Amino acid sequence: MKAIVLNKVGNSEALHIAELPSPNILPTEVLIKVKAISINPADTKLRSGGYFRELDLSSAVILGWDVSGEVVSVGNEVKNLKVGDGVFGMIGFPDLGKTYAEYVSAPANELAVKPKNVSFEQAAVSTLAALTAYQTIIVKGSIKPNDRVLIHAAAGGVGHFAVQMAKSLGAYVIGTASPANRDFVLGLGADEYVDYKGNNLEEKIKEVDFVLDTLGADNILRSLPLIKNEGKLITILHGIDDNITEKANSKNIDVSFHLVEPNNAHINAIAGLLQNKTVKPHISHNFSFEQMPDAHKQQETGRTVGKIAISVQ
Ligand SMILES: NC(=O)c1ccc[n+]([C@@H]2O[C@H](COP(=O)([O-])OP(=O)(O)OC[C@H]3O[C@@H](n4cnc5c(N)ncnc54)[C@H](OP(=O)(O)O)[C@@H]3O)[C@@H](O)[C@H]2O)c1
Repeated sequence: MKAIVLNKVGNSEALHIAELPSPNILPTEVLIKVKAISINPADTKLRSGGYFRELDLSSAVILGWDVSGEVVSVGNEVKNLKVGDGVFGMIGFPDLGKTYAEYVSAPANELAVKPKNVSFEQAAVSTLAALTAYQTIIVKGSIKPNDRVLIHAAAGGVGHFAVQMAKSLGAYVIGTASPANRDFVLGLGADEYVDYKGNNLEEKIKEVDFVLDTLGADNILRSLPLIKNEGKLITILHGIDDNITEKANSKNIDVSFHLVEPNNAHINAIAGLLQNKTVKPHISHNFSFEQMPDAHKQQETGRTVGKIAISVQ
């Protein structure tokens, strides 16, 4: 099979196509013929050496966690999937999922059946970023109808799923983005858009119950004054320090870090949200397999609207 491999950390050009044997499967796994892949900031951080875990590059590695495709072989302990099923999921996170390939071995319990009304590309992008939004907003957020919810980087991969999921809970949603993405954020269903550039957020945003931080420590400090006493902030970036904890404690605000995790119930719930169109993934860039270095360059701009898909022929 063709795979995109990395022999040394580096820029996007360090990714190149190689011929490798197709993977074997364990009894609990399925073999997927890959139709589409997606990428995230974590992919580019891992490629360039800026991730929280180091790569063992003693032999070439295949990156990638997000995948959709067709099941072509099933391990003898797998009960939930069969040959011919269209599937999608985030594979192997935070270890190597090895999805940048024509064939991928995947634990069956990290996959859901792809809804028929969703393309392979739409399914592939609704994986790591969608699970992050699902686990922070729906599972851990304790968000109730009419709660005021602030989503930072609402136009991004995680943010655009988070806005739609918070709206599905009946929240009043405020999304931050640059002016170029105002209409996109409001189009997702946000009740308010706020330009984060050059603005004192305290003048624009008051008394929120919940904040999803997608930007890190400085942004957490900017966000704490906007939150009600006993509100909640979940960050998806490392960086909660003593200063943040002290300021949060003074208002009884619950601040925590969340790292996305594979979860069968959650990926199946996302399949349901896609099927009934509660959540619509937005793909702003669709690259070919051979264009993976270009996909990484786009991801590294930090300006991607929604998600990047990579189609595999
Ligand atoms: N802990 C976890 O499990 C986890 C999971 C997923 C992602 N993450 C991390 O979370 C971060 C976001 O991930 P992502 O996939 O959503 O990234 P992304 O898709 O690359 O985010 C791009 C978006 O960020 C917006 N943006 C950039 N700077 C901004 C600012 N200062 N204020 C508001 N919006 C801003 C951009 O909108 P504008 O052009 O309008 O500024 C753009 O639409 C990354 O650092 C990623 O590594 C962590």
